[in-house]
Amino acid sequence: MLPAKAKQREMMTIQKIGIVGAGQMGNGIAHVSAAAGYDVCLQDISMAALDCAKATIEKNLGRMVKKERISAADADATLARIAFGTSLEGWADRDLLIEAATENVNLKYKIFAGLAAVARPGAILASNTSSISITALAAQTDRPELVVGMHFMNPVPVMKLVEIIRGLATSDETYEAVNAAAEKMGKTTVLAAKDMPGFIVNRILMPYINEAVFALYEGVASVEDIDTAMKLGTNVPMGPLTLADFIGLDTCLAIMQVLHEGMGGDSKYRACPLLKKYVEAGWLGRKSGRGFYNYGV
Ligand code: CAA
Repeated sequence: MLPAKAKQREMMTIQKIGIVGAGQMGNGIAHVSAAAGYDVCLQDISMAALDCAKATIEKNLGRMVKKERISAADADATLARIAFGTSLEGWADRDLLIEAATENVNLKYKIFAGLAAVARPGAILASNTSSISITALAAQTDRPELVVGMHFMNPVPVMKLVEIIRGLATSDETYEAVNAAAEKMGKTTVLAAKDMPGFIVNRILMPYINEAVFALYEGVASVEDIDTAMKLGTNVPMGPLTLADFIGLDTCLAIMQVLHEGMGGDSKYRACPLLKKYVEAGWLGRKSGRGFYNYGV
């Protein structure tokens, strides 16, 4: 018989991953998971989203082949490790289920309750949420100790970081298992030891972006000058308004609202009225063709 600790480690070994949501984050997570050798299922309610995800993964793998970072055979094998589907049927064999849906609290609650119903006992449920409480997501399930935050950055195949977030009940074994999985995917991890709104990255990044929108709103400088100032003045790859368009203005607003509410209405997290106005207009950034910049769609 195995000693208790070894038995537990064996139980937490991750080989099969299921990812819910085939948007820009979900397809990137599927890509890096499959590239690391995991058996992957990618689910979305929309077949069109799945087709688009597959095309994106193929394009990104193709780019890596062209640059001779991986062989054509590696690219084919990576893609072959991903099954695309619209249902969660058969997901009882998954060891780790990662939710990467839109940043909407009620939608995520519903998905977590649904995942807990299909997952086998002992399977880990992770969320790629950028700000929603892991503890609250865990409370929608039958296994709060197996629920954890696994926050990838966009674009997932390029960005080195995965932020791991422990909910109030997350066990050491769950944390260790997802930390090891993220490292196997070639990522560096950081731990948000406390499940506070925005965790580490968005607690700092979103007020910075929001402040850039305030600077624009108050007429301090133009869109271009705000971005040039921060890009050349602080050596970041994108200025804050370009980055907001890249992330999606609806996502930025949703995160600011989570920060504002979660910090007891502290006015330092108040979303800029101009950010709200752009979202109301449907100017969501790159994905809608217009945000602070025009993308000519
Ligand atoms: N998918 C895969 N690979 C991509 C990519 C994508 N969508 N976009 C670019 N790349 C790759 C390119 O192929 C290129 O690869 P090589 O270095 O191997 O040649 C590399 O990334 C650089 O790309 P480019 O030369 O085309 O363009 P760039 O130098 O302007 O880099 C960028 C693009 C990597 C996106 C860079 O601008 C950048 O790092 N921007 C900041 C991104 C960032 O801050 N992301 C975090 C957002 S916050 C977040 O995600 C958390 C949240 O909760 C909101």
